[in-house]
Amino acid sequence: MQYMTMPPGQHRLPPLPYAYNALEPVISERALRIHHDKHHKAYVDGLNKAEINLVKARQNNDYAYIKYWENQLSFNGSGHILHSIFWTIMAPIGTGGQPGPQTTNQIVGYFGTYDAFKEQFETAAEKVEASGWGILIWQPAWRRLEILQCEKHQNLTQWGGIPILVCDVWEHAYYLDYQNKRKEYINAWWDLVNWHEVEKRLLFAMGGQMPLMLVHNGRVNFR
Ligand SMILES: [Fe+2]
Repeated sequence: MQYMTMPPGQHRLPPLPYAYNALEPVISERALRIHHDKHHKAYVDGLNKAEINLVKARQNNDYAYIKYWENQLSFNGSGHILHSIFWTIMAPIGTGGQPGPQTTNQIVGYFGTYDAFKEQFETAAEKVEASGWGILIWQPAWRRLEILQCEKHQNLTQWGGIPILVCDVWEHAYYLDYQNKRKEYINAWWDLVNWHEVEKRLLFAMGGQMPLMLVHNGRVNFR
């Protein structure tokens, strides 16, 4: 496996692993071309733009537009990651095979039967309010699969990200001590951070793998 650090603003649109007409008749060449070349490309461009602007914000210590750029980072970052995975988990009709032994094992182990899994996945995807995704995830914390509805993938997250350092800013976390002064609470909270634990969590998370391109001969490009 190849691990590469992605510098800010350097994301690139991954090529489709098949021809534009390879998914017909389920997905037409025209639809796939627009989806990949226009929509996915827009996510990549938007993610690069957000990262570059956040570099500038850090350099200038100017966070006037922090909410906007953080939102762009999440919206486009999640869009880029989810689409990249989406392309790789599809293949021309008749070439995708059957669920492998581990996939079957995990699906049956958690959902009971493949049909039960399929029914829930389909319904969850169908019932996502407005736009979004139906997603099967591996939850590393629980060592099992789960099905999620992803409504508005930009909800200030990037799918697949593993939390390393978290700060609870619900009122219940600080109101008794700081009332409405959340910023004061956060400033003070830094003194509580257990960096040894953060380091350990980071090492654990870095052991995880989520390639965004097809694996070739056991080698994968994590971009
Ligand atoms: Fe899409």
